[in-house]
Amino acid sequence: MIGSVRTNGSAPVSITGLGCQVPERVLTNDELSRMVDTTDEWIVSRTGIRERRIAAPDEALSDIAIPAARTALERANVRPEDLDLIIVTTVTPDMLFPTTAAILGDVLPSPDAAAYDLLAGCTGFVYGVAQAYGMVAAGLSEKALVVGGDVLSKILDWTDRSTCVLFGDGCGAVVLERVDEGGFLGFALGADGGGGSYLLLPGSGSRALEDGNRPNVIHMHGPEVYKFATRVLVSSAQDLMAKCGVTTADVDLYIPHQANLRIIDHAVRQLGIAKDRVMINVDRYGNTSSGSIPIALSEALAAGRVQKGDLILMTGMGAGLTWGSALLEWTGERETWQ
Ligand SMILES: CC(C)(COP(=O)(O)OP(=O)(O)OC[C@H]1O[C@@H](n2cnc3c(N)ncnc32)[C@H](O)[C@@H]1OP(=O)(O)O)[C@@H](O)C(=O)NCCC(=O)NCCS
Repeated sequence: MIGSVRTNGSAPVSITGLGCQVPERVLTNDELSRMVDTTDEWIVSRTGIRERRIAAPDEALSDIAIPAARTALERANVRPEDLDLIIVTTVTPDMLFPTTAAILGDVLPSPDAAAYDLLAGCTGFVYGVAQAYGMVAAGLSEKALVVGGDVLSKILDWTDRSTCVLFGDGCGAVVLERVDEGGFLGFALGADGGGGSYLLLPGSGSRALEDGNRPNVIHMHGPEVYKFATRVLVSSAQDLMAKCGVTTADVDLYIPHQANLRIIDHAVRQLGIAKDRVMINVDRYGNTSSGSIPIALSEALAAGRVQKGDLILMTGMGAGLTWGSALLEWTGERETWQ
């Protein structure tokens, strides 16, 4: 596990701008129940999901990433040409190369930015922010853009009821810069490739497809992923809070990866966080992978749930298997975000 706690006097770095974007099309549980053998009652009781957004046939990740990035840049009052780093965390880039980060650099435009995509499953956003934080704190970058987003609808088997009801499309973007005080207090990231076979995309790379596997659609062992997710959502948050010397009583807003309401409820109970301090929007978006945490943060800000100085705990987990937590002392003024 790698971790970082800002106790050594390194420069404070924070989110100075944030935006999110989801496709227009809403797919409800009732519509899904006409496509596969499922019901609204089953999906809501097992997952808490009521609807999700689905990209149009000609819509790719960059189509939602660009507006999200532009909103984040405007709110940060940063010109795109002043960005020196773009990281896009995703498992559904427009294509493997050119990277979606490079496409963003061209379109925004940010001609002086280093740009690359980062793969860490649904934990991608936390990994990407940790990396950008390190680069900005070390002085390698001054203005970094991290986009977390996925269009998982493109890699779902729409005849497999055990996976297609869980996921949706969406994207969030943040600008990271040095600030005077507050900002990210620490990160804790981990991975266990031994559990990789529980959540995988066969046929998506250089490994030949095994007989019988459908290429380029998500294969998942639901119960094993459920066990993993409930475990790491708690342990990752506890590890980071212990390192940073805070307890759940200090956390003003908890943003867990929005995969499943039952997984979130379990973590909230185990961690002992008050329910009114938990951000939940899985009912409206399903699991948007790398988009999940930044979309939730964006909606919490829009709802006025975050004040300057608030402590925000974010934890993601997903394919890899990977997990990661970040602790952030919010530095923005509330008015800036409404
Ligand atoms: C997928 C998940 C919701 C299934 O919930 P569950 O309570 O564990 O259900 P089970 O897997 O035990 O399946 C129970 C039954 O429901 C059926 N079922 C699966 N999907 C269904 C659906 N959409 N509608 C109706 N029935 C369904 C199964 O076929 C199974 O039937 P059987 O008992 O006749 O074999 C749960 O395992 C889960 O959330 N896993 C984690 C998934 C996740 O978050 N992945 C991403 C992590 S980033």
